[in-house]
Amino acid sequence: MKTRLLAACAALALCAGPLAASSVHAQTAASATPTAGEAKAFVEAAEAELMAMSEYGARVAWVQATYITQDTNWLNARAEAQANTLSVKYAKQAARFDKVQVDPVIRRKLMLLKAGLVLPASDRPGAAQELADVQSRMRTLYSTGKVTIGGETLTLDDLDDRLRTERDPARIQAMWEAWHAVAKPMAADYPKLVKLANEGSVELGYKDTGALWRSWYDMEPDAFAAKTDALWAQVAPFYKNLHCYVRGRLNAQYGDAVQPKTGPIRADLTGNMWTQSWGNIYDIAAPKGVPGPGYDLTQSLVAKGYDATRMMKTGEGFYTSLGMPPLPQTFWERSMITRPRDREVVCHASAWDVDNDQDIRVKMCTRVNADDFYTVHHELGHNFYQRAYAGQPFLFRGGANDGFHEAIGDFVGLSALTPTYLKQVEVIDTVPGAEADIPYLLKMSMDKIAFLPFGLLVDKWRWQVFSGQVDPAHYNAAWWKLRTQYQGITPPGPRPADAFDPGAKYHVADSTPYTRYFLAQVYQFQFYRAACRQAGWKGPLNRCSVYGDKAVGEKFEKMLAMGQSKPWPEALEAFTGEKDLDASAIADYFAPLNVWLTRQNKGQSCGW
Ligand code: ASP
Ligand code: SER
Ligand code: ZN
Repeated sequence: MKTRLLAACAALALCAGPLAASSVHAQTAASATPTAGEAKAFVEAAEAELMAMSEYGARVAWVQATYITQDTNWLNARAEAQANTLSVKYAKQAARFDKVQVDPVIRRKLMLLKAGLVLPASDRPGAAQELADVQSRMRTLYSTGKVTIGGETLTLDDLDDRLRTERDPARIQAMWEAWHAVAKPMAADYPKLVKLANEGSVELGYKDTGALWRSWYDMEPDAFAAKTDALWAQVAPFYKNLHCYVRGRLNAQYGDAVQPKTGPIRADLTGNMWTQSWGNIYDIAAPKGVPGPGYDLTQSLVAKGYDATRMMKTGEGFYTSLGMPPLPQTFWERSMITRPRDREVVCHASAWDVDNDQDIRVKMCTRVNADDFYTVHHELGHNFYQRAYAGQPFLFRGGANDGFHEAIGDFVGLSALTPTYLKQVEVIDTVPGAEADIPYLLKMSMDKIAFLPFGLLVDKWRWQVFSGQVDPAHYNAAWWKLRTQYQGITPPGPRPADAFDPGAKYHVADSTPYTRYFLAQVYQFQFYRAACRQAGWKGPLNRCSVYGDKAVGEKFEKMLAMGQSKPWPEALEAFTGEKDLDASAIADYFAPLNVWLTRQNKGQSCGW
């Protein structure tokens, strides 16, 4: 993910300057119909102040995330509350210019000021601090959570590592249940968070916080929700096909008592805590009598002596091969790329842009395996995007939308995982032949296609929760209803009455919106198909790598440099020539696999 860098009102001295000036504008504006000139002056003042303060907020947040103590939590919550208050103030003032004729750049900046918050606080005294405190408790619980299994104390990254390879269903279940138990105390805090964020959202003119989140996509919020449903409808048959096939293989591995032949898949059996990517159980899904992808990326990385730094350097090498400038020296000095042993940190990987300019960093507890090799490329995508749009005015320094931000590194990752590329950088020694294509696509689909329903449902759940359609007593039941409906999965055993299973997922505990990952899953294949066409690639799409293609890189960077200065369809068009989200790129990539899966599933009753 990309961290959200809200402006922080650092110290009173800092707040007094430009803010005082803009308040004066606001007051004069209040007495008469504001003019276009006043709108422009207001936006300029907001931009200057928010930028200065976002750096303060980012530095506080960095220290907190890389050294969690009671004090850094206190400082970060304080800084967040101040930033929230300030951003809400600007959002409210921006609305005063709704009916004023202004140029499109000012109009877009006003729109961004109004919608730029994730969890807006009410301006009721104390509300912002209450919200920041609730958030701080939930995040700390998640990031410092530990479980004890068989006398061993394990962190989430330890569990993550073991779930990849553990094949004993009882041990898998124990790990899954222990981690989900960590989130239980959030059940008391989450309703508070919902109430506080809704209070702020309503004051800003939104029905609830979910409506605010759906308003970020240059179209009507309802139209956006309908678009995500339509995209899902396009890919759901393929997901069902994959689900059917993998369920059959799990049944063959574990027997009817653990994984029945029909109905949902047991949620803990796919090698991932959230059943969001299944690639780690490729060994179970591997088709009998068909040779595998020809190599095991984790084993190759280990065999070649890779460590976290070398994985990062390799990732950087892909971007520079496209013509982008190397990462600054400070990236290497200031990033945190392995888990420190002497303190608590937020291990969930993220990319940072600390000063809105050159001070870009990654924070990640990297391990040498295929998943993290991919995540390195994902995180660096955020950093290269951030640097590409650093020349924009402050309010345009962001992704064309948040889905774009998540898709940049994923797009690069699609090339970086190809055997063609891995051979070029000598991670593997030979490129397997055509017989490896179906296994490769199967493995990729277990990460990419398997992710889609999860990517959609996390916010479907939050939309229901924020709108009040689901009340706190039914939070967990509603979560599992969606998990079963969309993913076709079921927990390994009955859930305790006090469970709060959504909180076992980072982005819920952290309040990071999640629809962005669903969108990214679509955009990345559109970027990739377009890039491969530009490169003149003629072979199977899954073998295309744009490594070293400066012409593709130049066009790509043009899109990145736009930041969020234009509605996202324009950014998409700049690189791909396409103007809309389009799941046909996913279908094109996986077409041979879908045919193969349909054949494998013949005679099965698919679905759940
Ligand atoms: N940070 C990435 C995601 O949240 C990948 C990860 O899970 O570490 O976007
Ligand atoms: N990085 C995101 C997550 O971990 C999407 O894959 O959920
Ligand atoms: Zn990301």
